Amino acid sequence: MESKNQPMLQAIDLSKRYEDGHLALDNLNLTVETGQVYAMLGGNGAGKTTAINLFLNFIEPTTGQAVVDGIVTHEEPLKAKERIAYVSENVMLYPNFTALQNVDFFVKLGGKTKYTKEDYRKVLLRVGLQEEAHDRRLKGFSKGMRQKCGIAIAILKDAKAILLDEPTSGLDPKAAFEFIHLLNTLREEGKAILMSTHDIFRAKEVADIVGIMNLGKLVMQRTKDELVGEDLEKLYVEFMAGYMDEVA
Ligand SMILES: Nc1ncnc2c1ncn2[C@@H]1O[C@H](COP(=O)(O)OP(=O)(O)OP(=O)(O)O)[C@@H](O)[C@H]1O
Ligand SMILES: [Mg+2]
Repeated sequence: MESKNQPMLQAIDLSKRYEDGHLALDNLNLTVETGQVYAMLGGNGAGKTTAINLFLNFIEPTTGQAVVDGIVTHEEPLKAKERIAYVSENVMLYPNFTALQNVDFFVKLGGKTKYTKEDYRKVLLRVGLQEEAHDRRLKGFSKGMRQKCGIAIAILKDAKAILLDEPTSGLDPKAAFEFIHLLNTLREEGKAILMSTHDIFRAKEVADIVGIMNLGKLVMQRTKDELVGEDLEKLYVEFMAGYMDEVA
């Protein structure tokens, strides 16, 4: 069922207890609408990657649902995955293929067969991978260059929702700056974007909604308007500290 007012991404009472008993995600509720960027902040081990992996059905929820465009991911994982493009922190591509060959391979694997080499080159340039690198093998690439290839593949998948796990972690300051601009244009194209990041400054700059996670719980959520004039770094520290006091 698709309706206009339905959020593109929605976590409903979503929890994950791993096999060893660790409760990594505790009753997460969040929504990302079409044309919104949601940034998840939080310390190491807060549950951000777990949340993203649940949307991708890499792991099964213990309770609750991750819903993509009205589809419950653990009920119809293939249908849900068609609607999502994903870039992990460590993009897994073929080291012996060139950038262009990797893009061609993974985009076709994702079911898109109509693109030309020129389309690939355009998107690679759009994500900031310089022309001379397009025909080079990936094994000589830096982490940031590999990440740009991953982002290009995600864009070419042309999915309604984009999940990004620490997308700027491998990018130099110029590339990170350009990445924010790229997110803005993707938002304008009507994507729903859920990202995890440790970059508080960029989160405040780009996100329509910022959430702070701690110990598996969403402990703060603010819209861009609510954050005007606020020092997000200070809020972050306060919320982390406040929450630690509560559980202590
Ligand atoms: N496969 C697993 N089995 C057991 N515990 C896990 C597993 N994967 C993650 N965890 C635990 O779940 C918690 C949340 O981990 P997660 O990777 O979601 O955190 P994160 O917020 O992405 O952290 P980071 O900022 O370091 O990437 C951590 O305590 C982690 O040790
Ligand atoms: Mg993580």
